[in-house]
Amino acid sequence: MRPPIPLLLGSALLVAQGANADALRDRANAIFKPIPEKVTEVRGQQVSEDQARLGHQLWFDPRLSRSHVISCNTCHNLSIGGSDNVTTSIGHGWQKGPRNSPTVLNAVFNAAQFWDGRAKDLQEQAKGPVQASVEMNNSPERVVQTLKSIPQYAEAFAQAFPNDKDPVSFDNMAYALEAFEVGLITPNAPFDRYLAGDDAALDEQQKKGLALFMDTGCTACHNGVNLGGQNYFPFGVVKRPGADILPESDKGRFAVTNTASDEYVFRAAPLRNVALTPPYFHSGEVWELEQAVAIMGDSQLGRELNATEVSSITAFLHSLTGDQPQVAYPILPPSTATTPKPE
Ligand code: HEM
Ligand code: HEM
Repeated sequence: MRPPIPLLLGSALLVAQGANADALRDRANAIFKPIPEKVTEVRGQQVSEDQARLGHQLWFDPRLSRSHVISCNTCHNLSIGGSDNVTTSIGHGWQKGPRNSPTVLNAVFNAAQFWDGRAKDLQEQAKGPVQASVEMNNSPERVVQTLKSIPQYAEAFAQAFPNDKDPVSFDNMAYALEAFEVGLITPNAPFDRYLAGDDAALDEQQKKGLALFMDTGCTACHNGVNLGGQNYFPFGVVKRPGADILPESDKGRFAVTNTASDEYVFRAAPLRNVALTPPYFHSGEVWELEQAVAIMGDSQLGRELNATEVSSITAFLHSLTGDQPQVAYPILPPSTATTPKPE
């Protein structure tokens, strides 16, 4: 017996919807990449467990700062998405820094570090905050002196860097931090499950948002595994935002390259876990993700997105929140009589 016409039409519609669903996923898979389950390499070199374990301790150790109050985790709090959720970070002596703290989660996938990409990798990056006067305000010499004054650290460095004659060094501190940070990744986001073939991982609104994200041109800058973090673009390609959002004093990549065309150029922000890391932009002046999306439409694409479009794109961005790394609070080796005192 032939099935009734409406049923036939219904199944034809389902097949068509299935084809559309596959087409959307295929397009997405050509532009984005899922977060892998694990990263254990740095520049083609395997990091050892001893290095990552040492980096884990250093990450939480406030004695890397001159005050013994500020650790990496102060501004990249792993309990709240690897950032600090304040406008611009508070550092040494309660100073307010010039920029918003980007998340460290998945930072290993960025082509270069910082909003202006001035550090080529995580090892080079880690030397910055320790010395920055508005962050940890320390010096390499004082950090090495501090670490050498603590016998358990001397042992841990020797174990982590067995081929080094003088293993407790500023370079090795930075490398150990990097070895820890490569583990700070967030696989298994709904978007990753969708890319892998699970159609139910995104709801209809999120799928609409994904289609819009690709169709309106967000993907020209936000693509790849981190949906950003790879290239540099003027903030305000079409229309420069006001000074309340894009402060005139911070000229972005211009400070790195000294080239006029790099004025107000920044790295396309990576968008993984973006729902967890308000406020937005390097100035941290925008608290609502919807508003950040609308500003991007306006400033980067010259397109006024309507409220439905903004909500759909924002819903899609929420699907980028992955499994957060479960990081234990480490017990740190105690200071000794020769450890420099906090200043
Ligand atoms: C940027 C790691 C300490 C505030 C970054 C980035 C990483 C990182 C990987 C770049 C992320 C990206 O570009 O996507 C570390 C490590 C630290 C540390 C390993 C400890 C040694 C701090 C502290 C503060 C802070 C204590 C706040 C006082 C910031 C800010 C940026 C940043 C504001 C962006 C700066 C810019 O783009 O110019 N950090 N961080 N960090 N971190 Fe940290
Ligand atoms: C930053 C989304 C289009 C380049 C951001 C942020 C969001 C976002 C949410 C803030 C992330 C954060 O602060 O953590 C979007 C959406 C787009 C879009 C939804 C499409 C409607 C573009 C395009 C470009 C671009 C086309 C390049 C021409 C940038 C840059 C930043 C950024 C350079 C960093 C701005 C800063 O210095 O603070 N984007 N974006 N975006 N995006 Fe987009």
